Amino acid sequence: MIKKEIQLKVPATVANLVCGFDILGMAIHEPYDEMELRLLSDPIIKIKHLDDFGLPEKAEKNVVGVVLRKIMEHTQMKQGFEVIIKKNIKPGSGLGSSAASAAGAAFGANVLLGKPFSYPQLVYFAIYGEELASGTRHADNIAPCIYGGITLVKSSRPLDIIPLTSPDLLVTAVHPQVEIKTSDARQILKNKIPLKDAVTQWGNIAGLITGILKNDVDLIGRSLNDVVIEPTRSILIPKFSEIKEKSILEGALGGGISGSGPSIFMLSKKKETAEKIAKIMCEEYRKIGVRQYVYVSKINQQGITIL
Ligand code: HSE
Repeated sequence: MIKKEIQLKVPATVANLVCGFDILGMAIHEPYDEMELRLLSDPIIKIKHLDDFGLPEKAEKNVVGVVLRKIMEHTQMKQGFEVIIKKNIKPGSGLGSSAASAAGAAFGANVLLGKPFSYPQLVYFAIYGEELASGTRHADNIAPCIYGGITLVKSSRPLDIIPLTSPDLLVTAVHPQVEIKTSDARQILKNKIPLKDAVTQWGNIAGLITGILKNDVDLIGRSLNDVVIEPTRSILIPKFSEIKEKSILEGALGGGISGSGPSIFMLSKKKETAEKIAKIMCEEYRKIGVRQYVYVSKINQQGITIL
């Protein structure tokens, strides 16, 4: 039976996974957005936000509206959608806030329409929302949000997504309350990289994927290095080096910037280590008077779930 309305839990995601700029990402359990979608008898889009992030509710200016409009055009629908969103993933956090809205819209619409689309097609529609938010068509947050676990976006044109097996690791993510817009964090990146850095990065990405597929956590740890993006972006993130250094001393396998920042994430084998790292992160930000939210969770294997 086709549902007329649906409630979704849409998870945050950590993109890049340190060395996989624009190609790797994983879903986590917290924070998550709540979305309610229902079919309307007229071909209109109504959006309401229950959060106070000041996001536009006009369909053409909202990530959700842009994705739904694409789906409506594609299917030549005579009906429309009403969407109520309670975002808990703060925009500009580096935890895939715009991707969650875009992915939730595509996923929810698909269920309401009787699931005519495959996961790659949902990613395809959701990319239009990400493009509105950040100015670029990257799918490294959207893919794990929809598929769950860790995903590789082998190519975004044409779209080629490979869901990977996910090791049973803990993720600690801290979101310091400073805003970094993805568009700004992309503009500061260098367009060219020296060949020796490219070779190091290729080694790390290959090592990371091999580590994930073989469940070799030490190889994962040895591969979590980024010589291309992190040196430029980490300058924007207060306490980045201190948190990274202290977390690794505490036993983290490794970690780095979550998406385009300012959030930082670390991977650990054990819950106790992940929780100690959470304390270190909070402590570092308290020292400089920056408010922060910290999340400890396993890798989220399900992605978006229907409530
Ligand atoms: N891959 C993207 C970036 C993720 O790092 O700019 C942010 O949305």
